[in-house]
Amino acid sequence: MKITVVGTGYVGLVSGACFADVGIEVTCVDIDQKKIDKLKNGIMPIYEPGLEEIVVRNYKSGRLHFSTDLGEAIQGAEVAFIAVGTPPGEDGSADLKYVLAVADEIGRKMTDYIVVATKSTVPVTTGEKVRGAIKAALEKRGSDLPFAVASNPEFLKEGAAVEDFLRPDRIVIGVDDERAEKIMQRLYKPFQLSGERIIYMDIPSAEMTKYAANAMLATKISFMNDIANLCERVGADANMVRKGIGSDPRIGNKFIYPGVGYGGSCFPKDVKAIIKTAKEYGYDLRVLQSVEDVNDDQKHILASKVKAHFGEDLSGMTFAMWGLSFKPNTDDMRESPAAVIIDELRAAGAKVKAYDPKAMEEAKAHYIFDKVTYCNDAYDACVDADALLLVTEWSEFRIPSWEAIGKLLKNKVVFDGRNIYDKKYLSTLGFVHYGIGSK
Ligand code: UDX
Repeated sequence: MKITVVGTGYVGLVSGACFADVGIEVTCVDIDQKKIDKLKNGIMPIYEPGLEEIVVRNYKSGRLHFSTDLGEAIQGAEVAFIAVGTPPGEDGSADLKYVLAVADEIGRKMTDYIVVATKSTVPVTTGEKVRGAIKAALEKRGSDLPFAVASNPEFLKEGAAVEDFLRPDRIVIGVDDERAEKIMQRLYKPFQLSGERIIYMDIPSAEMTKYAANAMLATKISFMNDIANLCERVGADANMVRKGIGSDPRIGNKFIYPGVGYGGSCFPKDVKAIIKTAKEYGYDLRVLQSVEDVNDDQKHILASKVKAHFGEDLSGMTFAMWGLSFKPNTDDMRESPAAVIIDELRAAGAKVKAYDPKAMEEAKAHYIFDKVTYCNDAYDACVDADALLLVTEWSEFRIPSWEAIGKLLKNKVVFDGRNIYDKKYLSTLGFVHYGIGSK
């Protein structure tokens, strides 16, 4: 079986490599020639555990190809996945120009029946737009070649993308054409999912499923952050409350960790986009508007705690920051709370010394540039700093040498944005510990 995946970002590259790994012949297409050249040489555009190995292995075996030529790549392919970016426009809605440009090109260059499946997170009704773009391009060349569109949203998490793709908990396929459904069935067979975990539905429902899933997860996080902020005020401990409610299987113990707010490429963008879609249909998604508002405020929580301890004016002070990426095991800086915290500390006159195991290059090149001093390791960041801020819970930060840190910091104060340290234990070592959701 042969397929094409257009777009070599997170979703496209991971999907392409994983499909190749189960024996499918895959061509990954991107308009960026440099990116394609690098991939051919085994250089990954992103850091993702296990990705390099699976890409290189399948490229060498000849099952995974890289190309900039979409027209050639779709020849003989049964499915073309669209996995290009859908960046948020100024009004928060997903910009479909890249998706529709790919659809148009497929329409111009296809020579046989093909299933065009969107894997990018796209607003409800995009399937119809993709169908329209392909049809229009076919009509222009006087062709009535048959084709089908499908929606196959991707639920992989950054930092665990390969694992999530190879062992998905469910696959959602929106399709309205029998031939296309059979092809998709064959494509996903190697993943050996039991029947009920491949869920077929109509295209708009599949598109909606992706947004609803991300919006629900974002809601859990904002809900917990809201409760955590109240816990602090009433003298409760959000961590205890989390354990207390998480043991109810209807609530579940995942995604209820209070912190410095959600970031990344998906939650902020998708919550905005679904609010916008609802507005277009004359409906106000009030819960999700609050989810977004709470999250925007939560990104300021750590800097507020610093100011509550040291005073509003932080001039002449320096803070050590551990972690820059929006979550561990990724170098992704998109919508990372770290950027907001850094801006707020700097605005109050402070300097920041930062260390992140993987995201410093990305931070330097695209996000926070030279706003911070980049350090060689976690301890280096603490040298002569006034206090330590833990922003991203990388595992290497979990059990540090507090003895060493106590000697390096000017004050034994820790602002723990992810509640990974034990307040009581730290107080026995003479540290003041500020967590999220407890006094
Ligand atoms: C998410 C979805 O999980 C995935 O299914 C979808 O396909 C894309 O969006 P990702 O953006 O990779 O994946 O990140 P995820 O691991 O879900 O974390 C999102 C954010 O929530 C991070 O900033 C994380 O720190 C935060 N978070 C997560 C919390 O603050 N508390 C939690 O309990 C869980």
